[in-house]
Amino acid sequence: MTDIRDAVATPAAKPGTPTLEVRDLHKTYAGIEVLKGVEFAIDKGQVKAVLGPSGSGKSTMLRLMALLEPADRGAILLNGKRIGAEDRGGRMHHYPERRLAVERRDIGMVFQRFNLFPHLNALENVALGLTSVQDVAREEAKERAYKMLSRVGLGDRDHHYPSELSGGQQQRVAIARALVLNPQVMLFDEPTSALDPELVGEVLDVMEQLADEGMTMIVVTHEVRFARRAADQVTLFDSGIIVEQAEPEEFFENPQHERTKQFLRHVH
Ligand SMILES: Nc1ncnc2c1ncn2[C@@H]1O[C@H](COP(=O)(O)OP(=O)(O)OP(=O)(O)O)[C@@H](O)[C@H]1O
Ligand SMILES: [Mg+2]
Repeated sequence: MTDIRDAVATPAAKPGTPTLEVRDLHKTYAGIEVLKGVEFAIDKGQVKAVLGPSGSGKSTMLRLMALLEPADRGAILLNGKRIGAEDRGGRMHHYPERRLAVERRDIGMVFQRFNLFPHLNALENVALGLTSVQDVAREEAKERAYKMLSRVGLGDRDHHYPSELSGGQQQRVAIARALVLNPQVMLFDEPTSALDPELVGEVLDVMEQLADEGMTMIVVTHEVRFARRAADQVTLFDSGIIVEQAEPEEFFENPQHERTKQFLRHVH
């Protein structure tokens, strides 16, 4: 039997090929075009912060990139290879769920609400993806999960259930859960906006550490401080398109577009 994992194995990236790229991405909900041709690329080891007003399509863009929802048009490429769909006879065909499930393994996602399983403890929440998605044996899964929990500073909380953890701790478990699957890129959707202000720092610290370790990351956030400190590039997203993209200093001190200036006045 051929293993679907071989069929979809991620190729080694050619130098100069972005780790993740989207081309002309479109998405319409109930007749309203939410993504209007998004063009976006991130290179290995880069951190991109994405800012933008509410309802502009940021979460939609991430969900499409993570193959959690199909695009209407456009392409998503991982290391230069198209994922999620292919064109046949000029029409877009989405891959079946079985193939999507395999492709999704390369893309880790962390949500605003942590979405942990309440009936599993921290260790079990992190280990679950390994045993259920990657067929890793239970003992090895637990070992790897424990290491990852330690990495996010929660080695002493492995047997705590989500209800026994603070929001910041739960979000760190969610980060460990994504990381343990060894993704090529991590997508964060406002990972700190559901947290009490005093818990934001511990999650941003873990994310900065990840960035320092060379993880490729796309982070939708309102945290200007994080964007300034940890991002290689900052992007303004508005009304379903990317308006401006620049290095943090340039983005914040010398924005080129009127829309960016307006947005920054609002944020500061
Ligand atoms: N599943 C869906 N069905 C219908 N409309 C949707 C769906 N998901 C998103 N939308 C709409 O698409 C638009 C963009 O939503 P999205 O969540 O991507 O915005 P956002 O930039 O992440 O906003 P926020 O900053 O508030 O999180 C909104 O108008 C939203 O109502
Ligand atoms: Mg959102």
